[in-house]
Amino acid sequence: MNPIRHVAIIMDGNGRWGLKQNKSRNFGHKAGLKTVEKIIKETIRNKIRFLTLYAFSTENWKRPKKEINFLFNLLENFLINRLDELHKQNIKLKIIGIKNFSTKLNNLLNDSEKKTARNDKLQINLALNYGSKSELINAFKNLHKSKDKLNEKNLIKYLQTNNIPDPDLLIRTGNTKRLSNFLLWQLAYSEIFFEKKLWPEFNEKDYSKIIRNYKSIKRNFGNI
Ligand code: IPE
Ligand code: IPE
Ligand code: MG
Repeated sequence: MNPIRHVAIIMDGNGRWGLKQNKSRNFGHKAGLKTVEKIIKETIRNKIRFLTLYAFSTENWKRPKKEINFLFNLLENFLINRLDELHKQNIKLKIIGIKNFSTKLNNLLNDSEKKTARNDKLQINLALNYGSKSELINAFKNLHKSKDKLNEKNLIKYLQTNNIPDPDLLIRTGNTKRLSNFLLWQLAYSEIFFEKKLWPEFNEKDYSKIIRNYKSIKRNFGNI
C-alpha cells in the first residue's frame, strides 16, 4: 500500500456550480468553502501530513474585480472566524504564492502563519496568487545568486515547497483536465485524479474513494 503524505488539490468548478443553482458565481465560491472544511477534516482523519490547496492563481487576476474582491473577502472572514479553531486542531497554515494583497489581508496572512508555525498535525499550504512558472523563475534566480551548483537538490531549496515532500496525489475537480500552472515541478511523479464533480459537490466520500484508489496503484518512479 502506498504511503500518503501529501495531497494537492485544484479546487475548480465553484463558478459553474453557483450558476447551475440559478445563483451567482460568488454563491458557488461561498459553497466551495464548506467543501474545504470537509476535506480538511477528512485529511486529518486519514493522517495525511500535508494538504496543498490551489485557491487563487497568478492568472486569476484576469477575472472581474467584483469576483476577486468577493474571493479575498471570503478568505479574510474565514481567517478571522476559523483560524483559532484550526490552531486548536494543531494545524499549521502556510501561504505559497506572492502576498501582494491589501495591507489588511497581508497582515492577516502573516499573523496566521506566525500563530500556527509550530503546529505539526497537518500543514495546509494555501496557494494564493500562486503560479508555478513564476515560482520556478524565482528559484532559478535565487540559486544563481547563491552561486551554488545548479542541480535538483539545490534548486528545490528555493521552491516555496522546500522541506515539503512532493505531492503523492493531485486531485482536480470540475471536469477539466489541465494543471493551470500549479506545482509543475513538484507534480513530476504524482498520481493524478481528475474528478467530474464541481468543487462544491465534492465530498468526503469522493475523497476517500480517490485515496483508496491511490493506495492500490503501483508507483514505479521509472523502475519496474
Ligand atoms: C474555483 O473555481 C477556483 C478559483 C479560482 C477560486 P472557478 O471559479 O474557476 O469555477 P469555474 O471553473 O469557473 O466553474
Ligand atoms: C485553477 O482554476 C486555479 C484554481 C483552482 C485556483 P481556473 O479555473 O483558474 O483554471 P483555468 O483558467 O480553467 O485553467
Ligand atoms: Mg475554473
